[in-house]
Amino acid sequence: MIDDLLPRPRAVVALGGTVHWRSPLTISGPARFDDEIETFARDLEVAVDWRVTRVPRGGDLRVVEDATFGPEAYRLVVDEAATLTVGDGAGLACALTTLRQLGPASWWSVTRASAPSVEVPRARISDAPRFAWRGVHLDVARHFFDVEVVCRLIDLLAAHRLSHLHLHLNDDQGWRIALRAWPLLTEVGAWRTSTPVGHAEDGRDDGVPYGGYYREADVARLVDHARRRHVTVVPEIDLPGHAQAVLAAYPALANVAEPLSVATRWGISPHVLAPTPAALDFVTEVVGAVADLFPDSPIHIGGDECPTDEWVDAHVTAGVGDAADPRQIQGLFSARAIAAARARGREVLAWDEAMEASLDPSTVVVAWRDVGRAVAAARGGYDVVLAAQQHLYLDWANSADPGEPVAITRPPLCTTWEDVYGVAAILEELDESFGPRVRGAQAQLWTEYIADRDHLDYMAFPRLAAFAEVVWGTTGPLEEFRPRLVSHLARLDAAGVTYRPVTGGPRREDP
Ligand code: ACM
Repeated sequence: MIDDLLPRPRAVVALGGTVHWRSPLTISGPARFDDEIETFARDLEVAVDWRVTRVPRGGDLRVVEDATFGPEAYRLVVDEAATLTVGDGAGLACALTTLRQLGPASWWSVTRASAPSVEVPRARISDAPRFAWRGVHLDVARHFFDVEVVCRLIDLLAAHRLSHLHLHLNDDQGWRIALRAWPLLTEVGAWRTSTPVGHAEDGRDDGVPYGGYYREADVARLVDHARRRHVTVVPEIDLPGHAQAVLAAYPALANVAEPLSVATRWGISPHVLAPTPAALDFVTEVVGAVADLFPDSPIHIGGDECPTDEWVDAHVTAGVGDAADPRQIQGLFSARAIAAARARGREVLAWDEAMEASLDPSTVVVAWRDVGRAVAAARGGYDVVLAAQQHLYLDWANSADPGEPVAITRPPLCTTWEDVYGVAAILEELDESFGPRVRGAQAQLWTEYIADRDHLDYMAFPRLAAFAEVVWGTTGPLEEFRPRLVSHLARLDAAGVTYRPVTGGPRREDP
């Protein structure tokens, strides 16, 4: 429909009336857009069992290349035929996403819904994103999500014109990517013996072994799937802290002599990589190996929450550097990780704490602790992605209702979809102050309290729908957005998304 496009495009003009389409749809356009057209054809086949066939010219849909269009920009004119004018494949993917929203909700189905014919409103839409980094982060370390689930999430990101999926691939509680040179990372580090039940503060554990990891073939599938959707996957290797699963696998990299196991409780382990040549080489090698598995990706090197207690001991720090300021040891690890990524021509990102230990100025800072860190990063000359936990951590409860499922926050601390929509004002201010230094923003899905796909949906949506419009840069008054969001739910229903209700309290389990 024309009134419920989400994210709202920059300019929409209704031309009046509708165009009537049925299967097979015909489409023409330059061969360089074959992948996008094929993806659209597959979407309509899965959604409503339609065929989309290529014709040399003309057709129901006509793709036109115009080199003056910027990245991801498009014009979509639905008249007798639909003309999609774009400068690049990402622009076409965005245009086709909007076209699917102009159609019925069944065009979002994943179960071959019945739609013998559809009426698409005639319209003229001109659109481009305000921010290039429209990111979503997924922690696959605390709970593991297999390739199917991640590919489905990528589809949902693309359907909301979100651009980056940041994968948090390791933490104290698990290592999730197989690397040939370091087999124990997954043979040992991908498995823990137990997981907390309920809130970690309640102190209960399930005693059930848990684990999983991506094999090389899984990563290749994920990368290919994301490429087709024009979503950039950003692998994160989080070191030198959050390293207990690494240390369980390779105890020689630890500061302590006693054996460590993969952590079974949430929270930050005090055990970090030892400041030794061997541990520095390890960082170089694993960051390089991960970068090789994600051939076109920026690389996130982690760097958050690294306790320095184990580095204070002078005899431990004797291996490298000067122990006078243990925090600066982190900079040695960052430098190695950055060099490994840079050697492969990659851009590098790091959590904001990394700034505290001589961080290369070309690093993009992902500011998670608060908005002030984003300001500090931009003032310090870094490009920045806003990820402030108070606004953009979707592991926080959806509302202050005590009936919300267990989340990392306890009531009344929460982040509603309205709160997420309100981030537009913060981002706007940052953008005005720092211009292109502000790459965009990112919503975080940490998964201590998200164990399966349905609950991932519940925590992600509808907040990600609100977030998508924030980073696309076309938000308006909340009261204008609310009915659009409610209407959008029909698409999420069609896509089988188990979102949290937009109004009223949390979804309650049947008694
Ligand atoms: C973080 O939440 N530790 C980045």
